[in-house]
Amino acid sequence: MNRLIVVSNRVPRPDSGAQAGGLAVALDGLMERRGGLWFGWSGDVSATATQTPTRLESAGAIDFATIDLTPDEHDRYYNNFSNGVLWPLLHTLPQLMRYDRADARVYRGVNARMAAALVPLLRPSDLIWVHDYHLLALPAALRSRGVQNPIGFFLHVPFASPDVLGAASEVATLVRDLLSADLVGFQTDNDLNNFVAAAKAFAGAEQIGPKLLSFAQRTVRLGVFPVEIDARRFAETAAGMETSAPAMRLRRSLDPEALLLGIDRLDPTKGLPQRLAGYRRLLEKHPQWSSHATLVQIAATSRKEVGSYQNLRATLDTEAGRLNADLGEPDWQPLRLVTRACSRELGAAYMRLARVGLVTPLRDGMNLVAKEFVAAQNPDNPGVLVLSRFAGAAQQLDAAILVNPHDADMVADALHTALTMSIAERQSRWQTLWSRIEDRTPIGWGRGFVAALLRTAGITTVAPAPVRQLFSNVQQLAPAAAPAFDAPAFDVTGAAARERLN
Ligand code: F6P
Repeated sequence: MNRLIVVSNRVPRPDSGAQAGGLAVALDGLMERRGGLWFGWSGDVSATATQTPTRLESAGAIDFATIDLTPDEHDRYYNNFSNGVLWPLLHTLPQLMRYDRADARVYRGVNARMAAALVPLLRPSDLIWVHDYHLLALPAALRSRGVQNPIGFFLHVPFASPDVLGAASEVATLVRDLLSADLVGFQTDNDLNNFVAAAKAFAGAEQIGPKLLSFAQRTVRLGVFPVEIDARRFAETAAGMETSAPAMRLRRSLDPEALLLGIDRLDPTKGLPQRLAGYRRLLEKHPQWSSHATLVQIAATSRKEVGSYQNLRATLDTEAGRLNADLGEPDWQPLRLVTRACSRELGAAYMRLARVGLVTPLRDGMNLVAKEFVAAQNPDNPGVLVLSRFAGAAQQLDAAILVNPHDADMVADALHTALTMSIAERQSRWQTLWSRIEDRTPIGWGRGFVAALLRTAGITTVAPAPVRQLFSNVQQLAPAAAPAFDAPAFDVTGAAARERLN
């Protein structure tokens, strides 16, 4: 089996104590099962910019190789360019972008340094799978260092239309950089179509098939791979946590039949102020919910050094205070806003208790919380999902009540409908939603992508790179971790690849 190299900005290093984000949750299972090397940022900041990994660690079948960022890189590559330019642009929120050309240069520099540190660790038969918007320049940076291995890239966030992306000049180059990959994967058809338009507009790529581009004598395959959760396992967790002490405490503190719940990162894409506006409109339009309904909004603080996140925190604090002050009663508060993260287990318990789940981002790649809310429900008495039609998950979960999060009246009406929905309709909608996710897992998602990468490589010429020269650095860093030289040559037949992966 070809070794899998996963490259991502965040790396769930053993014992790092960091909470796993969506990307890590999606990939953990596959890496544990298949084994391989996980490469990226260590999560630490240190003064020196090394050209080799700062840490080599192992846990089970996974090896981890990571580099530290310098304080300037952390600021410019992570905060300013990745999260201050690319994140809002890719989510079609250009008004939130804070652009500085110097940040783009550092972004490119970090991508180049990551490539330089990764290349010596590669074996000729490795499959390389790069993830997300932090590393758009990496496929080209690897190719420019002579890497000929199959490279796959998956974008966890949306891909915006070229009109929006053009607001940052570097995006055109980054689209060209991405075209050095063999397979580029997206969450939805809409993202893929936007990428095709950008590849044509910015790079002059030619579309030679519905999901096939030709650029600089290379063929680049595109695909849609919606990220999944382990729905059955999440359902078990939620059921197991139903009578846990925190869940019982929440149940006793309010009326669960009028409990509305949101669980998000505190992020401008999640539509939190708009959600509060919709909830306010519900209470104004339908006074029967006054002194009765409670919105529990967990909005875990995130990326606190980025200006738009600081502004959002201030807006939310103000709006939450106003809502409670304007509409609350001495014995009732309409809103409970919590900015500390809660564990996935506790989140599952709260979801099972809630009558309504609110997932109303302005734009979202997928939104796994929407899938988790469905999985967490008691099939006999399920809650109702109110979901933004701008979340990638809306494609699969169209039996939810779909809303435009900008339209406060529409959100208010959807909440009222959800709160008053008959049990028969709740059960029937839930059955449809569950059927869309019950047999899916993140491992299945990961295998699907890897199988597609192998198939793509079957139509690509893959010449092995010079082996001994590639490993010299690793042996120097960690003799015990130096890979053996007996890896089989890369198998270019798609059929054999499928057999191994199923
Ligand atoms: O794809 C979006 C993502 O990178 C997810 O992996 C994760 O849930 C989230 O953003 C966390 O972001 P950060 O690494 O900036 O904390």
